[in-house]
Amino acid sequence: MQNFTFNLPTKIVFGQGTIDQIGIEAAQLGQRAMIVTGKRSASAFGIIEKVTNYLEQEGVGALVFDKIEPNPRTSTIDEAGKLARENECDLIIGLGGGSPMDAAKAIAVAAVETKPIWDFIPHGKTPSNPVKKALPIMAIPTLAATGSEADAGGVFTNWETHEKAVLFSPLLFPKVSIIDPELTVTVPKDYTADGGIDIICHVIEGFFTGDDNTPIQDRFAMGVIKTVIENLPIVLKDPKNIDARANLSWASAVALSGMINSGRGGAYPIHALEHSLSGHYDISHGRGLAVLIPALMEYSYKSRPAKYAMLAIELFDIHRDGQSDEQLAVKGIVAMKDFFASVGRLLNFKDIGIADDSKFEKMADDALRIYGIDGEYLGNPKPLYRDDILAIFKSLAG
Ligand code: NZQ
Ligand code: ZN
Repeated sequence: MQNFTFNLPTKIVFGQGTIDQIGIEAAQLGQRAMIVTGKRSASAFGIIEKVTNYLEQEGVGALVFDKIEPNPRTSTIDEAGKLARENECDLIIGLGGGSPMDAAKAIAVAAVETKPIWDFIPHGKTPSNPVKKALPIMAIPTLAATGSEADAGGVFTNWETHEKAVLFSPLLFPKVSIIDPELTVTVPKDYTADGGIDIICHVIEGFFTGDDNTPIQDRFAMGVIKTVIENLPIVLKDPKNIDARANLSWASAVALSGMINSGRGGAYPIHALEHSLSGHYDISHGRGLAVLIPALMEYSYKSRPAKYAMLAIELFDIHRDGQSDEQLAVKGIVAMKDFFASVGRLLNFKDIGIADDSKFEKMADDALRIYGIDGEYLGNPKPLYRDDILAIFKSLAG
């Protein structure tokens, strides 16, 4: 196992009805909050009204910024940052899925800086400015997916260039996250399933690409994935099942919290490729991952058959019965594909709105420049060079 520092400075308040604690928690952090949210759901389901009331009861003023688009754009962050500055906000609350929570983190920086937020986001061209200060952040997830409620990163798209890249700083950990699974019962089936796939991907990438001597991390990872495999079908049938929703919400939070991936090193090649897809085609993050995960598993399993065999045995109860690791790996990949199909995920680019190959080269170049090692390849047991990425994209073209 590699040496590591694990520090999760986010206070997590978890459970059905805990949204009523937002006022008390916010009052410890600021007096004039900007609530950062998406364009529709938080208002349509009465969550903004609830949150605003709880804040007012504790003497915290609220300014609502409800223009965050899925796959948040840097131009929107700059607009909100200016507004937060002008209104002297001292606390930023991200309320929604990963997009508003991520946006809140970047707005917390934009509110105390005057340069465009893109200048702070490493994207492989000019050196980026370091994040030196940020307003305090709170996160209230309404969708179990990204883990933004318990990590220090956010992902943003420069819509002029279609580059999608990560802003990361320890200053961006939410001070408090209120994870109330009741807020997630209105998430439609497609986004619920996308979220489940995202959670799986957050732990499976480290499992496949990281060090071997990490039994605790591996078992945590299998536990998280198994929890999604068991609970996602339940909420797809019964969206108001609060126990199953709670299990997905907790899986979302722990997946990227550092608890599971610390000490294994590893890489995120599937995420690197997906960010290129959603940067260019504005698709749902989890929907893009669902297409890429099986393709990357097929590409990689022969380089790491034991890990893939472990996955088949632990997740899908496939018995060894004298089979080699490679034979088990193949069965595990089939089982994973079957699971994705059973929760309605789509399997090729055409299904998710990527109709032609005109952007493949740019997408590959962006992934390598922004996320690659020396800009040359993506880290993976079987490294992904430009030609490998293009071959995978072509195989998925449908
Ligand atoms: O936009 P609104 O009106 O809020 O509706 C959203 C949106 O249409 C809807 N929704 C959210 N909560 C709902 C709801 N609808 C009904 N009821 C609710 N309770 O769901 C749709 C998708 O929302 P979005 O926030 O875009 O989804 P998600 O949580 O998947 O976030 C995706 C973004 O997070 C980034 C992705 O790249 C993408 O930009 N990620 C952030 C990460 C992080 N901070 O660590 C890691 C991830 O790997 C990921 O890259
Ligand atoms: Zn993700």
